[in-house]
Amino acid sequence: MRILFKNIKELIQVREEGINFISGKAMNELPTIKKAYLLIEDGVISEFGFMQNCPKIKTDYEIDATGKMILPTWCDSHTHIVYAGNRELEFVDKIKGLSYQEIAEKGGGILHSAKLLQNTTEEVLYKQSKVRLESIISMGTGAVEIKSGYGLTSESELKMLRVIKKLKKTYSLPIKATFLGAHAIPEAYKSNKEAYIQLVINEMIPLVAKEKLAQFIDVFCETGYFSVSDTKRILEAGKQHGLIPKIHVNQFHSIGGVQIGVACNALSIDHLEQMTNDDIDTLKNTKTMPVALPGCSYFLGIPYTPGRKMIDAGLPLALATDYNPGSAPSGNMNFVISTACIKMKLTPEEAINAATLNGAYAMGLQDKVGSITVGKQANIILTKPISSYHFIPYSFGESQVETVYINGKEII
Ligand code: NIG
Ligand code: FE
Repeated sequence: MRILFKNIKELIQVREEGINFISGKAMNELPTIKKAYLLIEDGVISEFGFMQNCPKIKTDYEIDATGKMILPTWCDSHTHIVYAGNRELEFVDKIKGLSYQEIAEKGGGILHSAKLLQNTTEEVLYKQSKVRLESIISMGTGAVEIKSGYGLTSESELKMLRVIKKLKKTYSLPIKATFLGAHAIPEAYKSNKEAYIQLVINEMIPLVAKEKLAQFIDVFCETGYFSVSDTKRILEAGKQHGLIPKIHVNQFHSIGGVQIGVACNALSIDHLEQMTNDDIDTLKNTKTMPVALPGCSYFLGIPYTPGRKMIDAGLPLALATDYNPGSAPSGNMNFVISTACIKMKLTPEEAINAATLNGAYAMGLQDKVGSITVGKQANIILTKPISSYHFIPYSFGESQVETVYINGKEII
């Protein structure tokens, strides 16, 4: 099957050579081709270039993209889209001024979501989750990571991961699964956190690894959740079972989790709303991708990750939604990109790089998606007619996505 896009106003994020990720000043460079063509063969990008060099070959479909742009789909490297129900009931408490921690102490928070999930069947959980997955694809996401962490028992954590496995089988975009058993200390272990850590290490991790249900392991490293030394133990145990570390860290406090993440060779460390200069220095010249989640800062009213400062210090940065019921109930990457520009002072070029190439790296998918490169999956966004790609973040709360293609197949 051969599909040819012709007369593309601008083909964005064109990379001749595959690259792992981009950092610092290079993040402000977004290579494009104006007046371009793009050829897709059997779901893979096979050729692109200036329209004047467009090949005259037999195709199955030709799409005239006059006035429109094409870019790789968003790579959302941090979500929790498998959850039961929602936490709408906390919304008004939050508006009235209760903090994330106060809501959790009142019986809301992660433990509330865990109770709901434990009482939801795998089938119902799948049905609720697939609606969210379809919604994010329609908004331009073409690769996604999904975490467990609302089960908090062996049975329910596996239930979540099996739902992710089923989503993977049913949908053709790349999906990576992360085991986040250490997301919160369950009620039953309130006065014996150590016993829960033992359960995670000795029972859950081996089960997850045996059924090959996850590629990554994550921990919520935060005051009141899992300490830096708990995090280290859990990540090391995961590594022994072939799981690659990621962490939720520095959301509310800088407690040394960044250093542990780097020491454990975490693929990504995520949140980073509170960053000390030492945290920034620790990340320099490492392979660990810092991931900002501006939707969470927006929703909780907490500081934004100092993305400007981090990029100026030479670091790479990825952007993700954190789509979850408690701190970011939206999976809209277009909004995330706008918010990164408006609130974190990223340029549109930096934000688009962070949401494509660097997001792909944060999921270990840099060879498959994240740029317009020959051989990569044809997961692309065809925009509405727009004047420049700056219009994508500029028109916040709107979507410039006209059609999404996954492996060259039209989705909306
Ligand atoms: O990434 N911070 C920890 N975990 C999620 C929120 C979970 C929840 O509140 O349900 C996050 O923000
Ligand atoms: Fe999260």
